[in-house]
Amino acid sequence: MIGSVRSRAGKVPALYAGPVVVLFIGDICGRPGRDGLALAMPGLRERHAPDLVIANGENSAGGLGITEKTARKIFDAGVDVITTGNHVYRHRDAYEYLDRTDRVIRPANYRTSNPGRGHTIVEAAGRRVCVINLSGTVFLDAARSPFDEVDSLLDRLRDEADAFVVDFHAEVTSEKVAMGWHLDGRAAAVWGTHTHVPTADARVLPGGTAHISDVGMTGARHGVIGAKKEQVLQAFRTQMPIRYETATEDVWVMGAAVDVGDDGLARSIEQVLLPVADA
Ligand SMILES: [Fe+2]
Ligand SMILES: [Fe+2]
Repeated sequence: MIGSVRSRAGKVPALYAGPVVVLFIGDICGRPGRDGLALAMPGLRERHAPDLVIANGENSAGGLGITEKTARKIFDAGVDVITTGNHVYRHRDAYEYLDRTDRVIRPANYRTSNPGRGHTIVEAAGRRVCVINLSGTVFLDAARSPFDEVDSLLDRLRDEADAFVVDFHAEVTSEKVAMGWHLDGRAAAVWGTHTHVPTADARVLPGGTAHISDVGMTGARHGVIGAKKEQVLQAFRTQMPIRYETATEDVWVMGAAVDVGDDGLARSIEQVLLPVADA
């Protein structure tokens, strides 16, 4: 059905061709995560029919950071926009790429002089969807409050997009739940990343914002949040620094799919917890 609708800002008429399904994918961990996502994507497309696929790629290069090469591999798997987080600046040679591309974003509340950008607006199913990346400030460093930052972004961009979705890269569930309530009724979805462990609290809040504290990771579960378990155990037991390698066994794709209505708010959220062997 094609019709003219008012945007969520109530000002800009837009052509609308039906609901927008947005699929969020949790932190992609190294090659096992990248390859696992590529293998799972045909099944995910069949199951959820996403119009827009967003994945967190901060661990895509050897488990830490992102490069242009790993970003391209993620795009080749069918992802449209890549979000990141605290590991985004691990690879110095990616800085120029982060400045050049509008498809890989980093937390908006980092210093404005840092490489890259904090949001991007893409078209999906005839709607303009603004993807925002934010960092928490509890146990993580960011230049500005994510709450103030997202307020000013939504103010500034309200006429430029029909729906807003937010990857909140944060450590603690309290800050993540708080962000969901902060944006309830203003964003279509707020999903958490960074901990690599999925939470069981996916829901649509009363104002129409789909929320989940953490979608989890896309990587090997036979490890410790993406790294080889023997190495992480050694680090914990000896309290000595150790170089981690990416775990490879039992790869799962974790994320969530959100159905966004013509008011720019969510109708439903469905968690994705998919062993790649079953994809
Ligand atoms: Fe991560
Ligand atoms: Fe992180």
